[in-house]
Formats: sequence, C-alpha cells, structure tokens
Amino acid sequence: MPLVILAIESSCDDTSAAVCVDGVMLSNVIANQSIHEAYGGVVPELASRVHQQNIVPAVQQALINAKVSKNAVDAVAFTRGPGLLGSLLVGVSFAKAFALAKNIPIIEVNHMQAHVLAHFIGDRKPSFPFLCLTVSGGHTQVVMVKDYFDMEVVGQTLDDAAGEAMDKTSKILGLPYPGGPLIDKHARLGNPDAYKFPEPQIPNFDFSFSGLKTSILYFIRDNVALNSNFIAENLNDICASVEKRIVTILLNKLKKAADFYGIKDIALAGGVSANTGLRQGLQQMGDKNGWNCFIPEMQYCTDNAAMIAIVGYHKYLKGEFAKQNIAPLARMPF
Ligand code: KG4
Ligand code: ZN
Repeated sequence: MPLVILAIESSCDDTSAAVCVDGVMLSNVIANQSIHEAYGGVVPELASRVHQQNIVPAVQQALINAKVSKNAVDAVAFTRGPGLLGSLLVGVSFAKAFALAKNIPIIEVNHMQAHVLAHFIGDRKPSFPFLCLTVSGGHTQVVMVKDYFDMEVVGQTLDDAAGEAMDKTSKILGLPYPGGPLIDKHARLGNPDAYKFPEPQIPNFDFSFSGLKTSILYFIRDNVALNSNFIAENLNDICASVEKRIVTILLNKLKKAADFYGIKDIALAGGVSANTGLRQGLQQMGDKNGWNCFIPEMQYCTDNAAMIAIVGYHKYLKGEFAKQNIAPLARMPF
C-alpha cells in the first residue's frame, strides 16, 4: 500500500496544504493572505482568522490536485512551530481534528528544519554533511546538517532577520508588504553600486542587520530632506544597492563557514532564497569555490506545506508520532 501523508503549514501568513505519496510530492497548495499588504507587516490576529477561512479549501484542493481521497490519508503532518501562536493553532487544531476523525496518527514538524529538508523533495539532493543558509522573515541561520534530524545552528542573526531587513527597507520606501519580492523586482532594474551601505563586523558565523536597517533609514531620511522626489527618482538603484549589501553579508558569512568546516555541499533555504541576487550570487560563489550548490525551486522557498510533508514522510518511516494533546510552540529550537 502506498504511504499517503497530508501536510499542513500555517506558521505565519500563508495557509498551505500538500499531499505526498511514498515521498513523492503530488500537490502543494498555497493560499496567500493579501490582507496584510496595507499594514506593512503581518497582523497576527488577522492572520489566524484568514487561516481559519483558508484551511479547509486548501486541504480540499491539495487532495483534488493529488487525486487522493481523504480516506486514503495515512498520517497528518503539521507545523508545530516556530511561528505566530494564533496562526499555528489553526493548523495544529485542523491536523488533530482530521486525524481524530480518521483514526490516524499525527506528526509534528519544526518549520525551520522543514525549510532545510525541502531539499529532499526533488531528485537532486545534497549529501550529508552539508551547510544550509536558511533565510526567512524571522530567521537567518547557517545550519550544519549532519543527517535528516541531526542539525545544528552554527551561526545566526543577533537581531533582525535578512527578510525583515528587506521588508523594513521596503516599508521605508513606501512599498507594500511583503517587501522582499518588490525589492527583488526593482533591484533587477537598478545599479547595485549606486549607494554603499555598511557591512557589520560580527564575529564567527553570526549576522546582524539592525545597524544596516538604521543606516538605510537615515540615508533615505537625509536624502528626502534634500529632494522630496529622491525615492521615486532612485527607487531601482536604492533597491539594487540594499539587495547587494544584504546578499554580500549573507554570502561572506556562508563562505567563511564553508571554509572553516571544509564543506562543499552548500544549500539555500527560506523565503529570501527566492531572491534573484542571492540565487545568482550563491551560484557564482559556488562556481568559484568548487561547491555543489542547492537552490530550491521557487515554490519551496517561501512557506509551503510540501516541506512539511517531506519531513512528515521521513518521521513516519522512523515511527515518530505526536500525541493528540500536543500544543503549538511560538519558539521551537531544533
Ligand atoms: O520563509 P518565509 O516565506 O516565511 C517565514 O518563515 O518568515 O520568508 C518570508 C520572507 C519575507 O521577509 C519576504 O519578504 C522574503 O522572505 N522574500 C524575499 C523574496 N521573496 C520572499 N526576499 C527577497 N527577495 C525575494 N524574491
Ligand atoms: Zn518560513
């Protein structure tokens, strides 16, 4: 009998459901929430309400796309954390209710671990041990991945995440949330060397983005004081220069870690891995250093349930199931 996993992801503002059969992904439905655009960031209370509206249609669509009946599902995998508690609660409650009704097990998944293990969805997989730069709206981590469930954070941000720096910059520029994709779009049309922003000197493999964020804020404020049309006239150049600095901060640290550990299999994960400059930059650095680079397919960069499903599949094979009284965790280390 084939092993059918239904997976749910609801940690932030995307409601996603996926179906995986014998480790092969048959569907990955993602319902985005446009309601946050006007607020410059995710409003947690609104996010959880929209998850409630989206979760049943997302699951139904995932089953339809996979051509799988709900009665054929063997286990439900869900994101337990980290994330927004109200958002997580919707996915956790749905998974528990579905499993209870069908008398099947549930599998808890760590969202950050799932971003890393998204590399095991397709045919081309990294070999252990590999290094993964996981960059999202809430996290910036260099992860040493020794095995599926044996990973260690060897470097991380001391303050803001890389995605947050993208989103805050776009907010300063008056662009809607989420800003990362818009910075990416404008950066393609601009000169990355037009403006120079500082690279923080942080020891080891750690990062910091709060100083950069402040310097961008002051740079924009001072220039707008001199010319009220400064942003409109230079938007592409500003986005290209900010993106270039964020990408160089990330890749310089990744290179330092790769050299230190002598690792050649290097992966990228998380929402910011959708960024064109970062994807191209990693590939160039990889070509220069003889790395095998693993850059996720676009649909597996930002939050998605397929990555939860692949972790669920491997946990099912190990017989690792959760209890029905499990609760979500806003903070959840590996
Ligand atoms: O992993 P993710 O979907 O959610 C979290 O777990 O946080 O990451 C979302 C982050 C946001 O900060 C968003 O602006 C950023 O990923 N992002 C991008 C791009 N697409 C999404 N940043 C830069 N360029 C992109 N193309
Ligand atoms: Zn994420």
